[in-house]
Amino acid sequence: MLRRLAAQRILELRQAFRHPQASRSFSTALNYHLDSPDNNPDLPWEFYGKNKEKVKEILSHYPSNYKQSAVIPLLDLAQQQHGGWLSVSAMNHVAKIIDVPPIRVYEVATFYSMFNRTKVGKYHLLVCGTTPCMIRGSREIESALLSHLGVKRNEVTKDGLFSVGEMECMGSCVNAPMITVADYSSGSEGYTYNYYEDITPKRVVEIVEALRRGEKPPHGTQNANRINSGPEGGNTTLLGEPKPPPCRDLDAC
Ligand code: FES
Repeated sequence: MLRRLAAQRILELRQAFRHPQASRSFSTALNYHLDSPDNNPDLPWEFYGKNKEKVKEILSHYPSNYKQSAVIPLLDLAQQQHGGWLSVSAMNHVAKIIDVPPIRVYEVATFYSMFNRTKVGKYHLLVCGTTPCMIRGSREIESALLSHLGVKRNEVTKDGLFSVGEMECMGSCVNAPMITVADYSSGSEGYTYNYYEDITPKRVVEIVEALRRGEKPPHGTQNANRINSGPEGGNTTLLGEPKPPPCRDLDAC
């Protein structure tokens, strides 16, 4: 079954390369900047409240002549403070803190897909698009989400509650397919980034509706027949007490 699915996906990929116009759009949202009323360099932006202390703490991890090494944690903090995305003013502020030209910060923010360059919903749903999740049906998960929410990838629903993006492998391949729900609505203090694993198109819609109702659906595996990343139906190996290595007691050898 798995082999058949893999072969089908490989065929799809080959077709996409032969007919690029027919292929789906990949990964991240826009990587260029156009000034708009809510995203332009004239808008003031700075870290506030406890985040000012966090900035100092982050910078303390690096030698004072290598402040630029703090660019990723500072951008991450800025994104958490700014409702899940990085405005050009936020990036400029980070550049000022680490004393580099702004382009050095833009390069980082546009390279890593965890940084959002446009507004996201209260719940930003990230579908893993890498091979194990793709073979296990991540495209069907994404289609179910997009059609249920009535948006395209990286668009925000009209009520501002949801947006759907794509992320590459999030290290949960054994429980593929999986999505992450990022919730930036409570700033850096209440920010959450939860994995929902072993999902199906039906389950992912149920999760969305639970979030809409303000519930907190249990994260982790959604397969009731497995515990965490253990095999479905229970352990198949290491069922007894493991034997100690031979000759542990050198006098007895
Ligand atoms: S491929 Fe999806 S978590 Fe690794």
